[in-house]
Amino acid sequence: MKHLLKMLDLSTQEITDILNLADQLKYEQKHGIKHHYLEGKTLGMIFQKSSTRTRVSFETGMYQLGGMALFLSSNDLQIGRGEPVEDTARVLSRYLDGIMIRTFEQAEVEKLAEYGSIPIINGLTDFCHPCQVLADLQTIREYKGNLDGLKMCYIGDGNNMANSLIVGGLKTGMTVSVACPEGYDPAKEVLEFAQPTGKFELCRKPADAAKGADVILTDVWASMGQEGEAAERRRVFEGVYQVNRELLEAANSGCMVLHCLPAHRGEEITADVFEDHAQMIFDEAENRLHAQKAVMVQLMKD
Ligand code: CP
Ligand code: NVA
Repeated sequence: MKHLLKMLDLSTQEITDILNLADQLKYEQKHGIKHHYLEGKTLGMIFQKSSTRTRVSFETGMYQLGGMALFLSSNDLQIGRGEPVEDTARVLSRYLDGIMIRTFEQAEVEKLAEYGSIPIINGLTDFCHPCQVLADLQTIREYKGNLDGLKMCYIGDGNNMANSLIVGGLKTGMTVSVACPEGYDPAKEVLEFAQPTGKFELCRKPADAAKGADVILTDVWASMGQEGEAAERRRVFEGVYQVNRELLEAANSGCMVLHCLPAHRGEEITADVFEDHAQMIFDEAENRLHAQKAVMVQLMKD
């Protein structure tokens, strides 16, 4: 593994290796065991969108690994004034040991990897959010003991989270069901990967997708960059594409509920369901730290 660009690039073994290392790093951190695997290394973090979890967990994670992280807002970089990504990649490769980037187009991240000579980590694009899904898989495994044979269900927009969850779930042996409105389906290349597995179901009704689920996940109706579509999306999603107590009745008992956050209570998830599952949702947020540390160690360690 040279980069983390999207879940589609990872083998099942690579995902398992990351999750195992994430568990080990979590143990080391919790027990005060020094784990300076990236001493002297520097990660650049380019942000073209807002972030709480991604920024803080990468920065803290790099520090805990004995390295340092630089926050690079695209407003301040020349990339924000039109310097080509091809040049930015080659320049930053001369200073840094790795780059995490959060941006709009997946093609920009792929280009950074193509032109740079250091590991590139996708910290969210419009297409996918692999770091979040690795943390989600780590959390599900912690609670359920294993992933193989579980049923994962996603309710809502066929967005970056849906795209990554479908691939991550299927690659780790889960069956995956998704409920999203017509016109808001997951990406074509994700469906092309998922459908031939015979373990994937695309539904229109949330109750159909939730049937027998072991874990239900959801995400906002309008993602970053889609603010202008928020009213139209609300009209389409409201009253149907919501994780609420009634929906959970269709799921298996002990069904987990996860959310990548930030959450909009009363929209994609009700406040009561959110609070009923707050412990695991914030474990999930914490696991961003451990899963990303594992990714950085895999990619950047000598
Ligand atoms: N879930 C997630 O990526 O959160 P941030 O947008 O706060 O980084
Ligand atoms: N789908 C959301 C995820 C945020 C972590 C977005 O892209 O805004």
